[in-house]
Amino acid sequence: MKDNAVSSDLSGKRILLVIGGGIAAFKSLDLIRRLRERGASVRAVLTKAGAEFVTPLSVSALTEDKVYTDLFSLTDEAEMGHIQLSRQADLVVVAPATADLIAKMAHGHANDLASTVLMATDKRVLIAPAMNVRMWDHKATQRNLTTLQGDGVLVAGPNEGAMACGEFGPGRMAEPLEIVTAIERAFAVSQPLSGKRAIVTSGPTHEPIDPVRFIGNRSSGKQGHAIAAALAGQGADVTLVTGPVALPDPAGVETVHVETAREMLAAVEAALPADIAVCAAAVADWRVADEADQKLKKEEGKTLPTLNLTENPDILKAVSRHPSKRPDLVVGFAAETEKVEEHAAAKRSRKGCDWILANDVSPQTGTFGGDRNAVTLISDTGSVPWPAADKADIANRLAAEISAHFAPGTDKSPLEVAE
Ligand code: PMT
Repeated sequence: MKDNAVSSDLSGKRILLVIGGGIAAFKSLDLIRRLRERGASVRAVLTKAGAEFVTPLSVSALTEDKVYTDLFSLTDEAEMGHIQLSRQADLVVVAPATADLIAKMAHGHANDLASTVLMATDKRVLIAPAMNVRMWDHKATQRNLTTLQGDGVLVAGPNEGAMACGEFGPGRMAEPLEIVTAIERAFAVSQPLSGKRAIVTSGPTHEPIDPVRFIGNRSSGKQGHAIAAALAGQGADVTLVTGPVALPDPAGVETVHVETAREMLAAVEAALPADIAVCAAAVADWRVADEADQKLKKEEGKTLPTLNLTENPDILKAVSRHPSKRPDLVVGFAAETEKVEEHAAAKRSRKGCDWILANDVSPQTGTFGGDRNAVTLISDTGSVPWPAADKADIANRLAAEISAHFAPGTDKSPLEVAE
């Protein structure tokens, strides 16, 4: 079953939906449908009590994904640990948020999957409370709610009306479309790069020797793709120009596939103008000058073929020094194996980019192709080493630095927003 998108408001957004145990849980099924209609992907955590009201099967059918129910399920932990579950979302939504779940959140309990995910998340959380009117009015609930709001948790509803228990008053969970509106609003305020265009390069380039052989490198595209996704998550309109990689195209990002440096340059130039350019691709510095039309033959007694190399265009330099369409902020990477910072700083001034992320790519770091990276951000104002982290975290931090750079009223120094 594929949903037809009725609006692109939430397209590419990843929602982690925690379904608590209340009669309103049945409305969460409609909420899933409404979110998916708008292009969001929904992953669900169903509490034990929630499963008394809706079945894992119906939730799974609507999310078209596995439903996560148990903290100590070895398969769940092996496939997707609770930390990952909470991190691989743009927003966590708790609907229905029962009095018990709200209390657990306010007091930091983590004794089941839902509460553990809520403790472990570094993403924003929106709750849609649903409970009996007296429970809602109870001082403990109101206290807990004040605590959560102080923690930055967003609240949608509840509504006033007749309740399943026969009483009347506030406590009915907000309607699915009202929750959707609150979610859209949450994204609108957390999208500092909305209205900005960004170009990101990623992956290696392959420079043909003959029709079947090429010069390449070990770049996987993980870093560049994560940056494209992070910028899109901050609301930027992103074009990702990628060399050959084995990764899926990031959701909500226009992705252009190329092979060679020259194709990459053409695709980047076609994507200009932009406000931001981030060149994370490991572009081959050289290509074979006289690429063979036919496969080179290994022949007995013949001299070995010689590869004559010629220099490739420098994409980062071309963008940084573009005569008419230079983006406001150009960010490069410098992959170095020695004197990392010194070489990176020299590269920054030679190529003319604003910021450069100095990257130690010595074999022991495992940076090329691996999941983690350690960089130093070098700008006009100095250099800031970032602690080693997952490439997704490096990407999120870079996106946050870029957002801060464009925020009105800041002095645009990346050092100011560094931790
Ligand atoms: O892809 P992963 O496996 O996730 O690994 C990530 C990474 C190590 C590839 C990435 O973090 C990184 O460091 N990318 C830059 C790799 C590189 O080629 O660096 P460089 O020092 O050779 O080039 C400096 C800068 O100029 C880079 O921004 C590069 O994109 C750019 N460049 C280089 C040559 C060229 N012809 N055109 C360019 O635009």
